Amino acid sequence: MSDGRALLELLEAEEGRRDPYPLYQRLRERPPVYDERHQAVLVLRYEDCVRALSGRGFGRPDEAWVKRRIPTWQRHPAVRCLMQTMQFGDLAGHPRRRGVVSRFFTRRQIASHVASVSATVDALVDDLVAEIERHGAADVQSMLSYRLPSISIARLLGLPEEEVASFQPHSLALAKLLEPRLPEQRLAEADDSFRTLRTYVERVIEARRRHPGEDLASHLVHVHDTDPTTLSRDELVSMFASIFVAGTMNTSNFIGNGLAALLTSPDSVARLRADPGLMGTAMSEMLRHDAPMQVTRRVTVADVELGGTKLPAGTELAVVLGSANRDPAVHTAPDSFLIGRSGPPPLSFGGGAYFCLGAAMAQQESALIFSKLVSRLPGLRLAGPPVHNLGSVLRGYLRLPVTADLGSAPDAGRRTGAGRRMS
Ligand code: HEM
Repeated sequence: MSDGRALLELLEAEEGRRDPYPLYQRLRERPPVYDERHQAVLVLRYEDCVRALSGRGFGRPDEAWVKRRIPTWQRHPAVRCLMQTMQFGDLAGHPRRRGVVSRFFTRRQIASHVASVSATVDALVDDLVAEIERHGAADVQSMLSYRLPSISIARLLGLPEEEVASFQPHSLALAKLLEPRLPEQRLAEADDSFRTLRTYVERVIEARRRHPGEDLASHLVHVHDTDPTTLSRDELVSMFASIFVAGTMNTSNFIGNGLAALLTSPDSVARLRADPGLMGTAMSEMLRHDAPMQVTRRVTVADVELGGTKLPAGTELAVVLGSANRDPAVHTAPDSFLIGRSGPPPLSFGGGAYFCLGAAMAQQESALIFSKLVSRLPGLRLAGPPVHNLGSVLRGYLRLPVTADLGSAPDAGRRTGAGRRMS
């Protein structure tokens, strides 16, 4: 077995999914390798990833891609939904689909939206503090990391927060369509979740048609009703589904991965507490160090050369953002977590015409959480072993138990009566 094949097998094994970074390093030193799991050539070096993301000759996966991957894809409503999102499917339709929602995601628009969830962050951190008080530890993933993005997406769409929160298992099942292996069981779960989501979304569509508001849901219904060639009925449902999934799962993993990195570096936490202005570079380092979305997809649309290898048109590529971010050719000591780091930006939000639409939203709402945790919880540390999701594409923690020295918190007693020591 060639060394490349052996490395790919290690990458698929449990330990490789828990910590793929040493394997990426060994793979980066070799010529590009074809990975059966992804059914794609892996692109691993920073410069190659930049070119594949935004250079000429590279496009996004289309119907031919999905046909090769899942020959029966038309029989799976969840996969049909995926192919109607802006991320996949009809390449020519991408600017139209993206254009339908982009004005809701500008930095300015998002700044005022995120300001409106600031009080919610306080309340969520209060709950976390109360849980640590009661039990000595609390799970950040269930109490914060998913709840904040789901509340935020609910408000943007104008939907009840508890309804969106209850969709977590369905978002997870749909997000797993991005993982490399898609056994029948996984496809069936995604189909079931999509059917549940579609029923809900159809109710929302009817309600907004009767009582439109200023929210994103009303806007989407209005665009479809005014001109179905701008947004068809299937695209309307897919748009909801992709905003639910992309808006919650990635941000949730970002909060968990970023916090886990911070917890291994008390010096970084102390620096952030002393100088909150470092939050921007600290978050950039969190995104670089452990990218929540490890892989995005491209297909060559012309014959190209990448990293010294000739790739004919139609070659499928798995662009390994998590590997590019650790490439020693551009980052000194790439495995170290250094919040003051300079250097090229991480590629964790992808690039080019497909750059993540929700990047500003994810960063601004996560900044609120990280700032609040650092300032309110001195001695914040792990309270037990974290449990990893072992995802190859969407990488994050299932559980991240933490504790803190609450008695010395700057606003200890804020909720519980001044002077009372929390333990
Ligand atoms: C830290 C959190 C997030 C990360 C790491 C992330 C990462 C990514 C990546 C890697 C891509 C693919 C880009 C490419 O192929 O070049 C992407 C696309 C996308 N993301 Fe995010 N994302 C995050 C949060 C969000 C949020 C909060 C939303 C929406 C509310 C969102 C919506 C989207 C959409 C709609 C696309 C498709 C863009 C297009 O194809 O034009 N993402 N994201």
